[in-house]
Amino acid sequence: MTGPAATRFPHRHLLGIEGLTAGEISLVLDLADGYVEHNRKPVVKESLLHGRTVMNLFFENSTRTRTSFELAGKRLGADVINMSVDASSVKKGETLIDTAATLNAMHVDALVVRHSESGAVKLLSDKVNCSVINAGDGNHEHPTQALLDALAIRRRLGRLEGLIVAICGDILHSRVARSNIHLLNAMGARVRVVGPPTLVPSAIERLGCEVHHTMLSGLKDADVVMMLRLQNERMSGQYVPSTREYFYFYGLEYEKLEVAKPDAVIMHPGPMNRGVEIDSEVADDLKRSMILDQVELGVAVRMAVLDILTRDRRGAN
Ligand code: CP
Repeated sequence: MTGPAATRFPHRHLLGIEGLTAGEISLVLDLADGYVEHNRKPVVKESLLHGRTVMNLFFENSTRTRTSFELAGKRLGADVINMSVDASSVKKGETLIDTAATLNAMHVDALVVRHSESGAVKLLSDKVNCSVINAGDGNHEHPTQALLDALAIRRRLGRLEGLIVAICGDILHSRVARSNIHLLNAMGARVRVVGPPTLVPSAIERLGCEVHHTMLSGLKDADVVMMLRLQNERMSGQYVPSTREYFYFYGLEYEKLEVAKPDAVIMHPGPMNRGVEIDSEVADDLKRSMILDQVELGVAVRMAVLDILTRDRRGAN
């Protein structure tokens, strides 16, 4: 049993899922549940963060995370600034730390940061007074993705504890996989990673997961099948013989899904490469695919995170 939700979140930053308790995770998910319902109302603007400033600082491309943090901040009444790294003084050679110190001097309340280097967001958080939220650092963590995935599973299947979750594909380069392994373990789920030996890090089972190299064994009796993109931008060299062969062995299609539970749900953090890691028919299956639900719940989770992390400075704890 994972126990009740915590009554407060004792962290200034959200840098990863590793180290969070089940109670702290439940606190975020319970709050996010309320924001899901709120976001479905005709008018969704709140004033909770009126007068507060949220800055998005993305050193890597993003559609879902950046847009949903912007929407989340605006729906809570904050001023949201999207700093364009390409048009910033980073391009003149300003370092990450100097950039952080500069933004900190402008008294922002929260910095949402994505960076290609694992650990860069933690480094930055040590230099600022505001809250820092990791929007994905290298292949390390993507905590709000794991939180929204957990919310999607919990809302659809009613629980996390005891479920078999198969995370499939490019585990090696995936921060989503790492954050999900930490979260699902904390919440009492059983986690499997599935992929070719070249794309599964050695000793990953130490994080608390089973390793499978075939979809047949990895998907057997799974409640949740989470597909991951081949992250070509992080690869140097050849990890799979060809995308065609990769799809044949590891691409999700109905035939491979037959060994999973009959009502197993399908997830993907996006962006998807159709025909590489997932067949279009499966991805667009409205009964089983939760891919667009994940996107919807991402806004609610990010509202919950901004709400929780600014409570101390709002005197709301
Ligand atoms: N899932 C995810 O992080 O998507 P984006 O890269 O579009 O933000």
